[in-house]
Amino acid sequence: MKSQLKYIFGLFLMFHIMVFVPLDSSAQEKTELDRKVERFLENHKYRWHDMNIPTKDGQILYDIIIQNNYKNAIEIGTSTGHSAIWIAWALSKTGGKLITIELNETRYRKAQENFKEAGLEDYIESRLGDAHSLVPKLDGPIDFVFCDADKDWYKNYFKEIRKKLALNGCFVAHNIKGNTYRVETKKFIDYIQKQSDFKTRLEVSGDTGMSISYKIK
Ligand SMILES: C[S@@+](CC[C@H](N)C(=O)[O-])C[C@H]1O[C@@H](n2cnc3c(N)ncnc32)[C@H](O)[C@@H]1O
Repeated sequence: MKSQLKYIFGLFLMFHIMVFVPLDSSAQEKTELDRKVERFLENHKYRWHDMNIPTKDGQILYDIIIQNNYKNAIEIGTSTGHSAIWIAWALSKTGGKLITIELNETRYRKAQENFKEAGLEDYIESRLGDAHSLVPKLDGPIDFVFCDADKDWYKNYFKEIRKKLALNGCFVAHNIKGNTYRVETKKFIDYIQKQSDFKTRLEVSGDTGMSISYKIK
C-alpha cells in the first residue's frame, strides 16, 4: 500500500513538473530587448507592404530556431526585414547570427533602419546583391535557412546550400500556398520531398505556406 502511494505521488510530481515548470524561452522572464522587439512588431503590425511574411509565419520561424538551438542562419530575400526580425530575435536568445541577402537597394536600406529600430542590428549582417552569386560564396556550416526570394531559383539555392547545411539543420521555403504560390515553387516542393536525406513537412495554414525540411543524414 505504502509503495503504491509512493508510486502515485511520483506520477503526480512528474505531471506537475511537466505541466507547470516553464521549459521554453518564451516563458522565461522578458529582457529589455524582448520588450523593444515586441514594441517594434506591435507598432509595425499593419505596416508591412513589401511582400513581407505574415506574423504567424514569423512566429513559426522563431519557434524552429529556439527549439533547435540554431546559431548560423541565412535568409535569401530580406525585403524590408519582417522575417529577419523574427529570425534574429530568436538568434538573440541562442547566441547566433543571421546573414540576410537582398537585391533591391531601397528595401535593403529600409530593412537596416528596421533592424536598428527593433534593437536587433547586432544579430544581423545585411548583404546587398544578387543571391544567385552571393549564396555560393557563403561559408558553412549553416544550420538554418529561410528562402523567400525568386521562386524559380529555390531549387538552385537548395542545391547550393545543402552541402553546407549541418546535420539536423533546417531549410525553410516560403510561399508554397496562397496568392504568391507559383508553378516554380511546386517544382521545388516536388523535388525536396523526394530527397531521402531530408524530412519535409508542409505548414499550409492560412494564406501562405512554408515547406520545412530537416537534414536527417
Ligand atoms: C517575398 S520578399 C521577402 C520578404 C521578407 N522575407 C520578409 O518577410 O520581410 C522577396 C525579396 O527577395 C528579393 N529578391 C528577389 N530575387 C533576388 C535575388 N536574386 N537576390 C537577392 N534578393 C532577391 C526581392 O527584391 C524581394 O525584396
